[in-house]
Amino acid sequence: MRTLADLGELHGKRVLVRVDFNVPLADGGVADDTRIRAALPTLRELRSRGAALILASHLGRPKQREPELSLGPVAARLGALLDVPVKMAPAVVGEPVRELAAALAPGEILMLENVRFEPGETGNDPQLAAAFGELADVYVDDAFGAAHRAHASTEGVARLMPERAAGLLLAREVRTLTALMSSPVRPLVAILGGAKVSDKIAVIERFLEVADTLLIGGAMAFPFLAAQGHGVGDSLCAADDVTHAHTLLEASRERRGTLVLPCDLVAADRFGADAAPRLIDGVEVPPGLMGLDIGPRTVALYSDHVAAAGTVFWNGPMGAFELEPFAAGTRGLAQALAAADAVTVVGGGDSAAAVAKFGLADRMTHVSTGGGAALELIEGRVLPGVAVLDWAPDASGATR
Ligand code: 3PG
Repeated sequence: MRTLADLGELHGKRVLVRVDFNVPLADGGVADDTRIRAALPTLRELRSRGAALILASHLGRPKQREPELSLGPVAARLGALLDVPVKMAPAVVGEPVRELAAALAPGEILMLENVRFEPGETGNDPQLAAAFGELADVYVDDAFGAAHRAHASTEGVARLMPERAAGLLLAREVRTLTALMSSPVRPLVAILGGAKVSDKIAVIERFLEVADTLLIGGAMAFPFLAAQGHGVGDSLCAADDVTHAHTLLEASRERRGTLVLPCDLVAADRFGADAAPRLIDGVEVPPGLMGLDIGPRTVALYSDHVAAAGTVFWNGPMGAFELEPFAAGTRGLAQALAAADAVTVVGGGDSAAAVAKFGLADRMTHVSTGGGAALELIEGRVLPGVAVLDWAPDASGATR
């Protein structure tokens, strides 16, 4: 994969940088700037090499221009973090945007409007890709979180640019997650939680091949417990997930990875911060109750696995950690990872939010900025935004 080190002289050049600034907004501002901070090393290096930067990102899933999904607040936060003004473009592409881009001096930054305001973005429209390409001399992709999308700003434009490279964040994400699956320090322990088995079948199957131990938690544990014949009460447990769990339990007998399920639970009569937590010493959830967290014996068991691991990968919370009465399982696992003498990698999304909430993100080896992208890489799928960075025009110079 080409990286920033492979780019030639950048002084005076315009670099289009695809970033993933798809961040939560609140009260007209940025509620969590983790993804913006994660891109700063790339932006700083490009500026220090004399490049003018044109930044492209999506925000949310607008179908057309939706003013509340403008990247204006993001540009303001980026400017504050870098301590330089960030100009906000009036649109994604078009003549006024081209003029602003052409007028940039070395080190200056222009933020394009939300690329999904253009309907051609998600369809990877060649005309939109060409319009992005006209803005710059060089393309850098640092948007790991969007690398699983073959969109105009992540894939289409990259094909058109003679000079293109991965940014520092994207390169680190790909290196870390690839090494995790190809050459982990063993034992490799995968902790998988979250709501639905069906969302993560491919990830579980891959870890059954590659990992030594799979620790299952969160609502995802209930289809497995149901498949073993336990009562799950009112817990989240779709019928199709029980079928999937059955198949995975069968498959696990012949695979490398040992599947471990909770041995105790915390339940309540409803999902709510004021619901009274009830400890279940075992895994039979009576009718009228729903399991909302793993119990303390499970936390201790899973923490022992983590303490003995050479590498730990974690994706998906162990319970409803956003509700304090049901946060102990997720907090306990986050603490176990923080204390472990192992390579610790946290997949994006809710598990990244959890380690941040517990103030433990800095204690992990790597917290991915990609949710879907990280999981697709682990599944062994090719990410279009990464594959295109290695792509070169054929001998005739024609584009594919
Ligand atoms: C994410 O938040 O996972 C990425 O920014 C991708 O967003 P998307 O799922 O809307 O493409």
